[in-house]
Amino acid sequence: MAKTIIELKRADLTLGSAAASVHVLKGIDLTIRAGESVGIVGPSGSGKSTLLMVLAGLERLDSGEINISDTPLHALSEDQVADFRGRNIGIVFQSFHLIANMSALENVAVPLELANVQNPFEIARRELKAVGLGDRLNHYPGQLSGGEQQRVAIARALAPSPALLIADEPTGNLDADTGRQIADLLFSKQAERGMTLLLVTHDASLARRCMRQIRVRSGQIEGDDAIVRNEAAIA
Ligand SMILES: Nc1ncnc2c1ncn2[C@@H]1O[C@H](COP(=O)(O)OP(=O)(O)OP(=O)(O)O)[C@@H](O)[C@H]1O
Ligand SMILES: [Mg+2]
Repeated sequence: MAKTIIELKRADLTLGSAAASVHVLKGIDLTIRAGESVGIVGPSGSGKSTLLMVLAGLERLDSGEINISDTPLHALSEDQVADFRGRNIGIVFQSFHLIANMSALENVAVPLELANVQNPFEIARRELKAVGLGDRLNHYPGQLSGGEQQRVAIARALAPSPALLIADEPTGNLDADTGRQIADLLFSKQAERGMTLLLVTHDASLARRCMRQIRVRSGQIEGDDAIVRNEAAIA
């Protein structure tokens, strides 16, 4: 069986202060194996994005443990977490999060340059070609369609060759056809590179394309379809 890449133990997090505080993650236990594709679904406000932010090291737990590739993120400093994230985790957002005054090429190359990676522009050019944007290198985000902007964001996420790709509603701002093409791209990159893919989606057909579906409700995991499938396989 494949190695464990993500392990959450009793993960607990409350966000906001005093009167506006929300107990968002309520003691979540979760294990994900290298190479899995996992769709995280659940009602609005159930804690899906917060869970992804914790897994990306962008939000810290109040208590509990988070281990990624055997690295205990809960025990690292903010700087160490940021460094780990830069080398191991790619992140894609619903609203692309590109820098408006940088070209597609710069959006991919500059983070590599900041991380002291050798030949950042060469790598960026290669990654943009690999997502079908070889002829859009010098376009700015405002000159690209939504689907093209998401391709740039995917190229940026993949450029450091992360073991883990995390996507929060990656097709949420796209029409159905474009969304399908973006999903095809994510799954084909996952297969090609043997990455682990974790995505949050409200699109049931997209979630069904994942090997495993996790249902979150009110800060807890209420269903995990891989477990059902495994039990069926054993029976
Ligand atoms: N910084 C914050 N301060 C206070 N409450 C917060 C904060 N961030 C999120 N929350 C609350 O935590 C809950 C979970 O939010 P989260 O964004 O994780 O939900 P979600 O499942 O991703 O929802 P959606 O499907 O609408 O994107 C919500 O009730 C939200 O209001
Ligand atoms: Mg969300």
